[in-house]
Amino acid sequence: MPGMTQPEPPDDGTASGHTLAVERVGDFTDDDLNALCEATNAAIIEGGGFGWINPQGRVSLESYFRGLLLVPERQLFVGRLDGVIVGAAQLVRPPRNNEAQAFAAQLQHAFVAPYARGHGLARMITYRVEESARSLGYHVLNLDVRETQEAAIALYESLGYIRWGVHPAYARAGGRTIRGIHYYKLLQPGGRIA
Ligand SMILES: CC(C)(COP(=O)(O)OP(=O)(O)OC[C@H]1O[C@@H](n2cnc3c(N)ncnc32)[C@H](O)[C@@H]1OP(=O)(O)O)[C@@H](O)C(=O)NCCC(=O)NCCS
Repeated sequence: MPGMTQPEPPDDGTASGHTLAVERVGDFTDDDLNALCEATNAAIIEGGGFGWINPQGRVSLESYFRGLLLVPERQLFVGRLDGVIVGAAQLVRPPRNNEAQAFAAQLQHAFVAPYARGHGLARMITYRVEESARSLGYHVLNLDVRETQEAAIALYESLGYIRWGVHPAYARAGGRTIRGIHYYKLLQPGGRIA
């Protein structure tokens, strides 16, 4: 519920013998872009998230991520396990013409590669995105997931996201229509939105 006690955000550091870190990306080194593309395709192949159904060619993925850094409304955050990028998420700000929803941002395209899951990195990435949204003055963070993304549902519900609706025709994958679960979280102390 809004205003409920939330778990404390972890500091960047070590967990389960691994070093975890999350950062906002302003530019890519070749190694980082390579690792991000590898992690993205691994997540796509495993079947969860990011919108893509089929693995993408390296040129296409590199163009996507390089282009992403040029979009003013989007911030890209990456998670590192032992220094290597293995996951990401995007904070999406509303367009300037949307004054009526200027208080709300979106968390999109969160994923952690299958080979890096279970270390708390997605939770750390989510906290970092929330922190950035809060510092930019947003009061609400919205997100949505396919109902088949059980780990993501558990993650966001454990972090206090409120399920407010179900979209019956949200996505198509594997020849079937999949429902979408929509969530929001109030970001500011006391849950106020103005
Ligand atoms: C959802 C996802 C990002 C979680 O990544 P992760 O780094 O393994 O998650 P974390 O280790 O930070 O887990 C944090 C919490 O999420 C929940 N969680 C994560 N994986 C889970 C699983 N397989 N089953 C149940 N709960 C799970 C748990 O509450 C967990 O806390 P705990 O370890 O203290 O029990 C990852 O599974 C993924 O990329 N899935 C496919 C893409 C996707 O669904 N993206 C989200 C929407 S676009």
